[in-house]
Amino acid sequence: MLKRDRFFIVFLALVFITGPCPIAFAQEPTGPLPPHDLRCEYLKNPMGIDVEKPRFSWILSHSDRGQKQSAFQIMVSTDPSLERADMWDSEKINSEQSLHISYEGEPLESNRTYFWKVRYWDKNDRPSPFSRSARFDTGLFLQEEWKGEWISGENLFRKEFSIEKSIVRARAFISGLGYYELSINGKKAGDHVLDPGYTSYDQRVLYATYDVTDSLTQGLNAIGVMLGKGWSEIRLLILQINVELEGGELLTFVTDSTWKTAQGPLVSDSIYNGEVYDARKELPGWDRPAFDDKDWTPVETGFKPKGTLSSQMLPPIKIMDTLLPREITQPEKGVYVFDFGQNLSGWAELKVSGPHGTEVKMRFAEVLYDNGRINQENLRSAKAQDIYILKGEGEEKYEPRFTYHGFRYVELTGFPGVPNPDTLKAKLVHSSVQQMGNFSCSNSVLNRIQHLITWGQKTNLHSIPTDCCQRDERMGWMGDAHLTAETAMMNFDMGAFYTKFITDIRDTQDEKGTITDTVPFIWGQRPADPAWGTAYPLLCWYIYRYYGDKRVLEQQYDGLKKYLDFLQSEAKNNILEHSHYGDWVAVEDTPGSLVSSFFYYYDVLLLQNIAEVLGKQRDAQSYQALAKKIKKAFHDKYYDPETRDYGSGSQTSNVLPLFLKMVPEENRGGVLHNLRKSIIYKNNTHLTTGIMGTKYLMEMLSNTGSSSLAYDLSVQTTYPSWGYMIENGATTLWELWQNKTGPGMNSHNHPMFGSVGAWFYKALAGIRQKEDSAGFKHILIRPEMVRDLSFASGTVYTPRGRITSSWTRSDHHIELKVHIPVNSDAEVFIPKLKLENIILKERGNRIYAEGKFLTGVPGINKVEELDDFMRIEIGSGRYHFELISQ
Ligand code: BGC
Repeated sequence: MLKRDRFFIVFLALVFITGPCPIAFAQEPTGPLPPHDLRCEYLKNPMGIDVEKPRFSWILSHSDRGQKQSAFQIMVSTDPSLERADMWDSEKINSEQSLHISYEGEPLESNRTYFWKVRYWDKNDRPSPFSRSARFDTGLFLQEEWKGEWISGENLFRKEFSIEKSIVRARAFISGLGYYELSINGKKAGDHVLDPGYTSYDQRVLYATYDVTDSLTQGLNAIGVMLGKGWSEIRLLILQINVELEGGELLTFVTDSTWKTAQGPLVSDSIYNGEVYDARKELPGWDRPAFDDKDWTPVETGFKPKGTLSSQMLPPIKIMDTLLPREITQPEKGVYVFDFGQNLSGWAELKVSGPHGTEVKMRFAEVLYDNGRINQENLRSAKAQDIYILKGEGEEKYEPRFTYHGFRYVELTGFPGVPNPDTLKAKLVHSSVQQMGNFSCSNSVLNRIQHLITWGQKTNLHSIPTDCCQRDERMGWMGDAHLTAETAMMNFDMGAFYTKFITDIRDTQDEKGTITDTVPFIWGQRPADPAWGTAYPLLCWYIYRYYGDKRVLEQQYDGLKKYLDFLQSEAKNNILEHSHYGDWVAVEDTPGSLVSSFFYYYDVLLLQNIAEVLGKQRDAQSYQALAKKIKKAFHDKYYDPETRDYGSGSQTSNVLPLFLKMVPEENRGGVLHNLRKSIIYKNNTHLTTGIMGTKYLMEMLSNTGSSSLAYDLSVQTTYPSWGYMIENGATTLWELWQNKTGPGMNSHNHPMFGSVGAWFYKALAGIRQKEDSAGFKHILIRPEMVRDLSFASGTVYTPRGRITSSWTRSDHHIELKVHIPVNSDAEVFIPKLKLENIILKERGNRIYAEGKFLTGVPGINKVEELDDFMRIEIGSGRYHFELISQ
C-alpha cells in the first residue's frame, strides 16, 4: 500500500470515529462572502461573446441568514490581474439586482479577452471581498471582420502557414456546414462535437471560437478540417485565425482559394443513416505540417450560406459520458448484440484488429425482437448504422464524427473474432448543459420516472430541443419544446440554450408574423398549429420567470406582437379553428379547435403579462380586453350546460379551461366533478390525456387542492401511465402511452410526456415562486404531503443559487429542511396534516407554540397558523423545521 493511501485510510477512520473535521481548522469566515459562479450571458468564462453589452450574473454567499444585496461593484479589465478596471468600473451601484447586469463600460472590441470581478454589499452595507476573476472572450462583432471566404470541396481540407515569431495569443473562429472538426498540427481543437449548432442556415450560421494559442507553434503550422453533411445539403467551411505575436504584430490566416481538399476516409455520412469510414483511405499526417498534398485539388470558392455568422453562445454538444455494455449476446452466429442498459443519444466506439479490408457493421436500436435480434422498425427510414473498414494494422479504434444515434442496443456484425466488453463502448452525446436539479422521494415509481425524464431530456438536447433522437426526425417540434421546458429548467441549466432557441424561432417568422411547427422549419406546417406556436411566447415567459431575464422579453416583444396579430387575424369570433395535431397522442379525442383556442387565450394572457413587465400599460390593457372576449367565446362555444362538459367531455377538454380559470365560477364545480368522475370511475384512476392535456392536468389538479389525485395518476403502473412504460422496460419516456415497437410512430425516447417532472418539483418537493417573482426572487415552499408519500426532496440550482426543500413525515412528526439563496426570501407552507396543538421548532428552537409566534430566531420573520398549514416567512439561509403536537 502506498504511504498516501495509508494516510487516507487513517484519516477516514478518524472521521468515522470522531465525526467530520477531527482537525481544528481556522474559523469560518463571517459576513458577506465573495460572490461565486460568475456568468456572462448565462455562460461561465465564455468564448465568442458577440453582444455589445453582455450581461453579468453572480451568486451570493453570506454566513448569516436573511441576507440581501444592497449594492454591487463590477470591474472589467483587459488585465488579468484586474488591478485596474480600464474597461469599466461600475463603482458602487445601489441595487438588489444580481442577475443580468448589463455591461456599461468602454466599447468592447472584437477578438479580445476581458476579465471581470464583482463584490457586493449586504443589507447592513458591509462589503464582501471581491469574487475570483472570471473572463470572457469576444467574437467578431461585424460581418466585415471575417476576412476569408467560404470554401467547398470534399471531406478533408488543409492549409499550411508559418509563423516567424513567438505567439502571444491566437483565436480561431470557425464555422462549417453541415458538421466540421478542426485540427491544428494533428490535434483536434477543443472538445465540441457536431458543431455548428443547428439553425435556419438561410438566416443564421453559428461559429465557434477557440483559444489556439498553445496549438500553434513558431515555425510551420498545418490546419486540417474534416467536413460532414450534418443538416446541410452542401459542405462549406469558413475559418479565420487571428494571431498576436510578441512585439504586437497581428497576423490573420483565413480560408481562401489557396486551400486544398481531398476525399479521405469518410465515404459517406448522414445524421439518420450513419457513417461509412474506410480506414484504408486514411491519409496519415494530412493535418500536420510538411504533408505532401500535391495530389490534392484546390477548393472552390463563391458559394456562401445566406445567413449571417453569429457566435454559438450555448453549451456545445460534447461527449458527456462513456457507458460500458451490461450484456453481450449472440442471437445468431456472427451476430452480437450489446446491451448498454440505457436508451441514450450518441454512438459507439469500436476497438478492433483484423485483416485489411474487413467490414465491421454496427446497427443501433432501441428495442429487441423476442429472438434477441435488434428491432429497427420504429426508426422508420433511418438506417442508423456505422460501417468501419479496417486498414489491418494492429489495434484500430473508430468512432464516428458526423452522425448520432438514439439507442440502447448495438448489433455488431462482420467482427473478426469474438468481441469482448471492451469492443464497444457507448458514448453519450448531447448539448453540455449542466444538471442543476435533483428530485427523489419515497415512491420508487416516481424516482424511476425522474430517471426516465432526465435521460430523455438531456439526450434530446442537440443544440435544439428535439422530439426524439433515433428515427428519421429529430426536429425542434415546438409543442414538445414548450411542454418540456419547465421540467428542463428545473433539471438542467437551460438559460443559454433556450435563449438561442428563441432566436431560432424568431428566425423562422415571416412578414405576416407566422411561425412554424418545427424550428428550424423542416417538417410540419406554416403557420404553426397554435398549440405548437405557443412555444414562442411561452419560452420567452419561462426565461423571464425562471432566470429573471427581461431582455428576452424586450427583444422579442415586436415579434411576439406580430405573432399575436397574425393569430388575431386568423380567429373568427375569437375562436381559432386552425389545428393540425390538437391534443397529440391522446387516448381520448379532444376537438382540435378547442386546443387551439385555449392556446390562443394563453398567448394573449402571456402577452398581457409581458406588456406589464415591460411597462407597456396600453398594450397590456388591450390584451386584457381581448383575453376577456376569447374567454367568453370559448365558454359559449365549447361548454355544454347539460353535460357540464367542455368539448368532447374528454379529460383534456375540461382540464384546459380549468387550468387557465376560463370556467365561470358557477360552472367550476360541475366541470371539476366531471373530470374527477372521468379519472376515477370511468378510467379506473387513469388519465386519457395527450401531450397537451397531460401537463396541465397535473398542475391544475394540484392548483385546485387535488394533489392526491394527481399523485394517484403519477404512480399508476397500468396503461396508460408513466409507470406502464417502466413496467415494460423503458429507460427513457416513450412517445406513446401504448407499448408499440412496429413501424410507424412509436419512439422509445420522446421527452414530451416529461412535463410531469416540473410537477414533481413544484408540487411534491414544493419549490415554486410567487406570481410576481422572476428568477426565484420570492420563493414559495409548499410541499404536498400526499397519500403514503413519507418523504420528498428537491434541489434546484437557480440563477440566484440553490433552493432545497426536503421533507419527511411520520404520524406525529413532520420535518422540513429548506435552503433559500442569499438575496431571495420565501414563504413556507407546512401542511398540518392531522397534528393538533402544534409546536413548531427550527433547529431545536421553538418558533411557534400555544398559538403564538415566538420571535428571536434569525431569519424567521413571521409564523402563523392557518386552517391547514403553518405559514412561515423567512429570509435566505438554511433551515430545519420540525412540526409536532404538544
Ligand atoms: C413528433 C412529435 C410532434 C408531432 C407533431 C411527431 O412526428 O415526433 O413529437 O410533436 O409529430 O405532429
